[in-house]
Amino acid sequence: MAVMIETKNLIKVYGDITAVDNVTLSVERGALYGLLGPNGSGKTTMIKMLTGQIRPNGGSVSVVGIDVMRDPIGVRERVGIIPEQETPPSFLTATEYLNFVAAVRKIPDIDEKAAWWFDFLDFRDKKDVLCKDLSRGTRQKLMFAQAFIHKPVLALIDEPLINFDPIMQRVVKDYLGEYVKKGGTIFISTHILEVAEEICSGFAILHKGKLLHTGSVSDLKSNNQHLDDFFLSLVQNGAHA
Ligand SMILES: Nc1ncnc2c1ncn2[C@@H]1O[C@H](COP(=O)(O)OP(=O)(O)O)[C@@H](O)[C@H]1O
Ligand SMILES: [Mg+2]
Repeated sequence: MAVMIETKNLIKVYGDITAVDNVTLSVERGALYGLLGPNGSGKTTMIKMLTGQIRPNGGSVSVVGIDVMRDPIGVRERVGIIPEQETPPSFLTATEYLNFVAAVRKIPDIDEKAAWWFDFLDFRDKKDVLCKDLSRGTRQKLMFAQAFIHKPVLALIDEPLINFDPIMQRVVKDYLGEYVKKGGTIFISTHILEVAEEICSGFAILHKGKLLHTGSVSDLKSNNQHLDDFFLSLVQNGAHA
């Protein structure tokens, strides 16, 4: 099976803080992979390094077979990204933003594809509204549309469900599940363990920048373990280590 993400001894330092501390991680094609950890554990910093938004201080990072430090633009062309708390440009409407993304990514038939997303995520009534006037949830819908509109082989999503109501959470979780069944790969970060337990195949636990564990959700379940108990015991042990 192809490896879609590979980091070796990845390090990011901010002043006195080592936000990501020597992380070696591998994600295979077809995974719905969850990067888990409490707030401040380094999840967003990891995703920013995987997508070439920030440069590591050490180690290596390869995404869809490309060295991210050498060719960050090449990686970004092939993947879909939803950064944490990102909002689309305030001065464009939802439709204009998707047209803009289509122009950058050279995506054909954008009107048809945009219409599909407006219907699928139920925001057709907002398609001509300026992004500055959209609610957080609707902006997140638009970010979803831009990330998936070119059907990337890999999508990286930082806290995917945080701005969605329960109905939209269901729609999005089902979409992600179907996406990997069709051969895509999804990498999410979340501090919501129920989400990871419900939808993820593999997971990694970060704590204070260190990778405490990697595993598969089905292995946990077959041991009758719940991810939250497992997570808490690890993090508590990690905290006192
Ligand atoms: N730009 C930055 N400058 C300084 N410290 C940062 C910066 N970004 C993140 N950090 C610190 O790095 C650590 C990890 O943060 P982050 O990756 O955002 O964690 P998470 O996404 O898991 O909540 C935190 O201690 C945070 O305060
Ligand atoms: Mg974060």
